Amino acid sequence: MEGWKLLVTVGWLFPTCQGYDPKNILVLGGNGFIGAATSERLIARGDNLVLVNRGNWYWDSHSTVKPHVKHLTCDRQRQLRHCEDLRRFKDFVYFDVVVDFSAYHSEAVEDVLDLLKGRVGRYIYISSDSVYEVCSKNHSNPSRESDAVRPMNAEEKLQMAGKDDYGHRKLECEEVLVRQRQEEGGVPYVLLRLPDVIGPRDNTYRWWMYQMWLRLSGYLERQISIPKFLMDQKLSFVYSLDVADMVVKLTDCELGKFDNAYNLGTDEMPTLLEVLELMKRQLNLENTHIPVNDSAEAIYLFPSVKLGPVDSSKAKDMLNWTPTSFETISRQTIRFYEFAIRNKGFVLARKEIIRNMQAYFTKQPHNVLYGLNGVYGIKYPDTHDEL
Ligand SMILES: *[C@@H]1O[C@H](CO)[C@@H](O)[C@H](O)[C@H]1NC(C)=O
Ligand SMILES: *[C@@H]1O[C@H](CO)[C@@H](O)[C@H](O)[C@H]1NC(C)=O
Repeated sequence: MEGWKLLVTVGWLFPTCQGYDPKNILVLGGNGFIGAATSERLIARGDNLVLVNRGNWYWDSHSTVKPHVKHLTCDRQRQLRHCEDLRRFKDFVYFDVVVDFSAYHSEAVEDVLDLLKGRVGRYIYISSDSVYEVCSKNHSNPSRESDAVRPMNAEEKLQMAGKDDYGHRKLECEEVLVRQRQEEGGVPYVLLRLPDVIGPRDNTYRWWMYQMWLRLSGYLERQISIPKFLMDQKLSFVYSLDVADMVVKLTDCELGKFDNAYNLGTDEMPTLLEVLELMKRQLNLENTHIPVNDSAEAIYLFPSVKLGPVDSSKAKDMLNWTPTSFETISRQTIRFYEFAIRNKGFVLARKEIIRNMQAYFTKQPHNVLYGLNGVYGIKYPDTHDEL
């Protein structure tokens, strides 16, 4: 635990500046993957945080985040004005910043703007490169921010929206923020369009599953492979901790950067095979062969979009976006999961990764447990110390 803590701390040493004027920040979500990392940074800076989420404290956020924030339990699937915790909450009259990690439909954004009308300084919305999937991108280069334009033709627009419901809804959230800004008293916004996010404490477990798939390959019937159609496909990724750093920066930067969308991706655009080959090298598993799989059913966990990588040059120009190198991200991420599988503090995450491995990669659930024992020396489930 401590070893990992030290490792990440180096990357985000904050000068807890003398005379820093703490901000009131409303974080919607803030308990998950990028959200918890962002909350940790804001806490370290000394801001006053109000977190609104359903109260699932993922990974170790119950100790790194929960004790240091005001927590309100609300479910954004329901209207916020019906949320008892929020209705009773009267401490803050004004939020300098809203950071929204958890809006997946437009009403969720409208709700917040409605409820806090005239009481928000700026709004940072975590969006997705999936928005490009429902737009009429008309070139084959990496997606640029200006490509997020829906087809003019109503029928075509509807048809595109149907292709990717998630992307359609995330774009609707963006559209609410853009529209309200044009009205009087509208809140300045920033839209951060993220490709596949990787890093420690990922609740999708995608990176960790690949890592375990490589590590336990000698114990699993289903061998790792690359679907043929992805052989030459370049992918975009972003490091969760780079995003957290950027959000912190945006809570404080000039408003001139606002009212914009930004893609945030790594400089490298590796293929899936390149990602897995690097993972192999860093895990010292050089002898594991990763074949091509012709089957249309071949399992793959990246990418989550069809449209290819994103172009982050706008963020580089305007926000001085300087992403961590893919090799470093990979090394740090691998190191975290190698540590996490042995760490009893992550009971739930470990249970879930084991269940996932059992569901997808073997017909014999015991093989995963034999693998854990053989590779990591972990007897699971157990009641003994593992570290
Ligand atoms: C491509 O789409 C953009 C908007 O997304 C538009 O401005 C541009 O004119 C289009 N170019 C062509 C060649 O259709
Ligand atoms: C390819 O994928 C299919 C479907 O998931 C699987 O049954 C098969 O074993 C895979 N073949 C290789 C060579 O990995």
